[in-house]
Amino acid sequence: MMSTLFDPVQAGSLKLANRIVMAPLTRNRAPGAIPTPLMQTYYRQRASAGLIITEATAISHQGQGYADVPGIWSPEQVTAWKKITDAVHANGGKIVVQLWHVGRVSHTDLQPGNQAPVAPSAITAKTKTVLIRGGVPAFVETSAPRALRPDELPGIVDNYRHAARCAIEAGFDGVEVHGANGYLLDQFLRSGSNQRVDAYGGSIENRARLLVEVTQAVAQEIGGGRTGLRLSPVTPANDASDSNPQPLFDHVARALGPLQLAYLHVIEGATGGARDHVQGSTPFDYQAMRAQYRAAGGTGAWMVNNGYDRELAQASLSQDADLVAFGRLFIANPDLPRRLREDAPLNDPDRATFYGGAEKGYTDYPALAA
Ligand SMILES: Cc1cc2nc3c(=O)[nH]c(=O)nc-3n(C[C@H](O)[C@H](O)[C@H](O)COP(=O)(O)O)c2cc1C
Repeated sequence: MMSTLFDPVQAGSLKLANRIVMAPLTRNRAPGAIPTPLMQTYYRQRASAGLIITEATAISHQGQGYADVPGIWSPEQVTAWKKITDAVHANGGKIVVQLWHVGRVSHTDLQPGNQAPVAPSAITAKTKTVLIRGGVPAFVETSAPRALRPDELPGIVDNYRHAARCAIEAGFDGVEVHGANGYLLDQFLRSGSNQRVDAYGGSIENRARLLVEVTQAVAQEIGGGRTGLRLSPVTPANDASDSNPQPLFDHVARALGPLQLAYLHVIEGATGGARDHVQGSTPFDYQAMRAQYRAAGGTGAWMVNNGYDRELAQASLSQDADLVAFGRLFIANPDLPRRLREDAPLNDPDRATFYGGAEKGYTDYPALAA
């Protein structure tokens, strides 16, 4: 029997009411890195998703790279997130937090003691971040990073472990490790940002080491069945580049197989852009990557994302996907599952209110009349 978007599914320990996932969406509305009551309203409104993945959430002060993004490392943050997870659960939803370390995509203004951001190698990302200057969001060049010393890496793995523990204390159903979009773990994976000559650079195995160690540590801490991972094999987001992504991500998929993760979340193409974006010399074969994952014993749900609409999502479910994550459609449609089920018209997202601000463009998109 062909599954539909509206059928329940088990992803590791997560029992999901449908296959429609709210993709992680940074909204820059958490001053001081503390979640707010307005965020509670926003996530509660979207609790009919089979699974909500929160906006990217820093695992440490050093992991911060943008103004007003939340964190999950302090007791105060845990208490604030608990109100949000309670609200989602009270409305029948499930929610995981996306664990984030931005690496070099940061600015000295956002770092502890105004130090340089950290990275696999001291190579500045050709990208921008967002600071609030004079109360107004401003896009600024990222600062030059310094290369992490080998003896600092166990501490970073521990920061992920600690954040995962905090997530469970905050009532989350699990976590998603952010291994995508040119942030720290993706920076280690790719040849364009990783020129290390130690055990964490050079060969594919070495470049994948930190991502695998982090995912393993998180899975050990809270259980593989509550751990997901997001990857973006060919995205150029945040200056991410690799000369030959297929063998790299096939290796990553094989290494993840034995961890018994809840799901693997794959952004197909350029994040928010062309689905057929190519990096390296040949088009990326996602089915081959999935086959490597399954052959290595990977039992997690296969979650796809990027530019999906109702029709493409249904087609993908009938082929090889178990879950489909929707980003921009969830910004503008708090009741997206109902709209997809009824094939109802969709609200359009307003780009001007994506990052920063208050209710406008956040909690004021209308749901369909009851
Ligand atoms: C406003 C905005 C914020 C985003 N923030 C995140 C984020 O925090 N973490 C992440 O992994 N991806 C983030 N993304 C990427 C989305 O999760 C998603 O991959 C992208 O929008 C493509 O999916 P869509 O076509 O369904 O929108 C963001 C995208 C947008 C538009």
